[in-house]
Amino acid sequence: MRIDVVFGGAALTPSEVQGRVVAVIDVLRASTSIAAALANGARAVIPLESPDDAVTRAKTLERSDVLLAGERKMLPIPGFDLGNSPREFTREVVEGKTVLITTTNGTPAIANTQGARDVVIASYVNYTAVLAMLRAALRGGADITVVCAGRDKQFALEDAGCAGRYVSNVVKRLAGIELNDAAQACSLIDRKYGDQIVRLFEASEHGRALRDAGFGEDLTACAAVDSYPVIPLYQDRQITKLGPDRER
Ligand code: MLT
Repeated sequence: MRIDVVFGGAALTPSEVQGRVVAVIDVLRASTSIAAALANGARAVIPLESPDDAVTRAKTLERSDVLLAGERKMLPIPGFDLGNSPREFTREVVEGKTVLITTTNGTPAIANTQGARDVVIASYVNYTAVLAMLRAALRGGADITVVCAGRDKQFALEDAGCAGRYVSNVVKRLAGIELNDAAQACSLIDRKYGDQIVRLFEASEHGRALRDAGFGEDLTACAAVDSYPVIPLYQDRQITKLGPDRER
């Protein structure tokens, strides 16, 4: 079995995900916001490529059941109900709703996983739950690809650190798992920062840009390990949570 980490989800190729169990990470902030939405009772989160796609899809649904969410250049999209701050996806706002979300790097990365066996959305806020799912998959003989959405198809430190925490712990007490170089490098980054996750974020370009744009509190929210303990699964172009009403 092997674990490969790949960077720049928008540039993902089918061979990198075909038949694999895939974890998509855009820890600042899309994958965190998706976990928050599902943990707080959203019926489903539908990732869409563009704001126009989201508006078009909303027209096919009952408007009162739908929330339009997302960002461009980190800021809420004009006319949308929510931005991309996980702190906005409260139970009062999202419970029972279908969230249509479009973000710069996160939602294209998720959309590019067609052909994967299973796709899970991973972050720090749902770390232990997703780790258990990935360990079970690995024990069952699956190969895993961790897709770091990154920034503009490039490496992003915050996604690499989060991926590294998954990689380091998913292989514990399992023998003979091969890691690609990126997976090994991610483990080193996780080891460097340990539990100082906000420090990791503040060292990253995107973390600093979010702070400069007034979203400093989002760094703390995105670093809150296990605060939204859900397993968000992407299937049939929508994300729902694995649970009593949704078995795999
Ligand atoms: C993205 O998808 O690029 C990010 O989630 C951007 C953001 O921080 O809102």
